Amino acid sequence: MTQAAFSVHVPATTANIGPGFDSIGLALDLWNEASFFFDGKGLSFSVQGYRPAFEIQPENNLIYKAFAELCRVCGKATPQALRIVCNNRIPVGSGLGSSAAAILIGLLAADAWLGSQLSKKELLEIASAIEGHPDNAAAAIYGGLIGICSDGTSFHEDSFPVAEWNTVVVLPKFDLSTKASRKILPEKVCLKDAVFNISHALFVMQALGSGDENLLGIAMQDRLHQPYRIPLIPGADLIINAAKASGAAAVGLSGAGPSLISFTMSDPETILSKMRAILEPAGLDIEFFTPRISRCGAYVAASAANEQASEF
Ligand code: HSE
Repeated sequence: MTQAAFSVHVPATTANIGPGFDSIGLALDLWNEASFFFDGKGLSFSVQGYRPAFEIQPENNLIYKAFAELCRVCGKATPQALRIVCNNRIPVGSGLGSSAAAILIGLLAADAWLGSQLSKKELLEIASAIEGHPDNAAAAIYGGLIGICSDGTSFHEDSFPVAEWNTVVVLPKFDLSTKASRKILPEKVCLKDAVFNISHALFVMQALGSGDENLLGIAMQDRLHQPYRIPLIPGADLIINAAKASGAAAVGLSGAGPSLISFTMSDPETILSKMRAILEPAGLDIEFFTPRISRCGAYVAASAANEQASEF
């Protein structure tokens, strides 16, 4: 077995947390990893775990596109030979930051290959330019709970305190790309709705930091994106009601969806089994996850990893 030059590890993320559209991100303890081998011939990928529903040419893979973009920004050529072995635990197109994870794997790998020149801040700017929004990438880079604002030219991002929340994520098996679910949002919003979201987003941060379940239940409401997105997701209302009936403190879309994320300070397995009991008879095609928060963000490790993935 050939030794990988290094492996890159990036956590799942949930963005928005209700009202914080494009402004709040939280890292979850569910990781994608990829090992990089600069051997063989040309570009090749192998993958185990979740993969896109459709075939992607190696040069169009988001990991490679991000790798090549960082080489371009640094004025360097891409490597002659590159073999990438992926282990994907983040479901693709789920609202759990799989695209941000792929982009960061590519950027961090290229940065490591070129001698680790770039700061997290610089990586965030490039990742956000590729993805079109900064919240998932920021949480994936830094870990924990991150708030982000932009002056129109660059981002200001910072970590906020976060209590020991548990989550229950329900993923309806339904294809909803972030691109499509951003396109349906209105260009303009009314002042009342903007004020509603600003005020609620403040208290989302407060509640996440203090662990106040009651406050999170009040704060995690949104008028900017969820009212447009939730009707597109079959079973979403049922899942939201099931989460509330099962004792979750708050529930909302994870990022652009289609997954829904519930928060609790108590045992997520109790909520999960109650939700199962409500949702399984409804015959929804869904998957459950209970990731904890990750306080650690993306990192590069100088180690070999499993080469037993299948080709795609
Ligand atoms: N803030 C982004 C959106 C997150 O809601 O479109 C996507 O995961």
